[in-house]
Amino acid sequence: MIPGKILVTGGCGYIGGHTIVDLVNNGFEVISVDDLSRGSLRMLAGVEQILGKEIKNYKVDLTNLDDTQAIFIENPDIVGVVHFAAFKSVNESVQEPLKYYRNNINSLVNILQCAKDYAVPNIVFSSSCSVYGNAKSLPVDESSPLAIAESPYAYTKQIGEVICQDFVKQNPGFNISLLRYFNPVGAHPSVLIGELQEKPENLVPVITQTAIGKRAEMTVFGNDYDTRDGSCVRDYIHVMDIANAHTKALQYLIANKNQQACEVFNLGSGNGVTVLELIQSFESVSGRKLNYTMGDRRAGDVIAVYADNSKACKLLGWNIQYALAQMMDTAWRWELKLQIDEQMQLN
Ligand code: WQD
Repeated sequence: MIPGKILVTGGCGYIGGHTIVDLVNNGFEVISVDDLSRGSLRMLAGVEQILGKEIKNYKVDLTNLDDTQAIFIENPDIVGVVHFAAFKSVNESVQEPLKYYRNNINSLVNILQCAKDYAVPNIVFSSSCSVYGNAKSLPVDESSPLAIAESPYAYTKQIGEVICQDFVKQNPGFNISLLRYFNPVGAHPSVLIGELQEKPENLVPVITQTAIGKRAEMTVFGNDYDTRDGSCVRDYIHVMDIANAHTKALQYLIANKNQQACEVFNLGSGNGVTVLELIQSFESVSGRKLNYTMGDRRAGDVIAVYADNSKACKLLGWNIQYALAQMMDTAWRWELKLQIDEQMQLN
């Protein structure tokens, strides 16, 4: 029995696209809404190639309530929403805070308004480990105290969680899972989809672009932190594991297994890895020596954060499939695929 139609917002983005693959592979019917301001139709084409079926995308700005409502009116059989659509650059959010507050908060408010008006009871919200800031003790679990947000981006995730919690208090019968991602990396094993960023700021795409020669070199932002090798510690998690956690969360909500109306889950591997350790893993997997230099710390970086993921594993039945080497392997093979595609376009 098909478990029902799911609306994925931001479905043409990195995590959204990978999640559509996992949802469809688990029997869900999926439609996407993405205004393509950050997402791309190339992602959607890759998703359709993997699935061998068409996925409808509504090119709609979710900050426009009328246009958002029209999607729900046209699709009265939507049983759940996975809400990814948001701007996510920490740096950019510092430069343009109003753009981030308007987009990330107004789109969430409109999605919740539509869920209420069109009786869609199951919602999964894309949150972030950035809500923890520089945690006093590690690993962080869902009851760890939240920090003062280090950026407007992180603050929109904290405010988003509060909006979801207030929404379920006033609207019994609605159930929300708040999923706090750690550092999603890698690509679908087919490398038909992956992270598409021209000028990435995140570590793994910077590494693969440096290794393939798109960038001359990369900088490790700080090696004087109080960590085992002086570089920052993060919890890297394969994007397909993140995707499957969304499927598990929807199945959990649709089956009414949730213990509270609004629950938080950490989506991390549970392993803290330093920047230098990740570079070593990449070099051994790719066989490429990376051209990097040690540089100054980056403003806003937390020193170390990694997850206690036992709640998601236990309650959602989430089983992590990909190890660090596979994250590096798929990220590298995706970069190689991009290079081949670019060369074919030139010929
Ligand atoms: C990781 C480490 C950098 C680039 C990300 C997302 C954020 C949130 C959490 C989802 C840091 C170092 C990086 C470089 C480097 N995810 N680095 N040289 O900052 O943990 O945040 O995950 O919501 O949205 O941005 O990830 O990949 O930028 O940095 O040394 O050229 O790599 O200092 O220690 P971050 P990142």
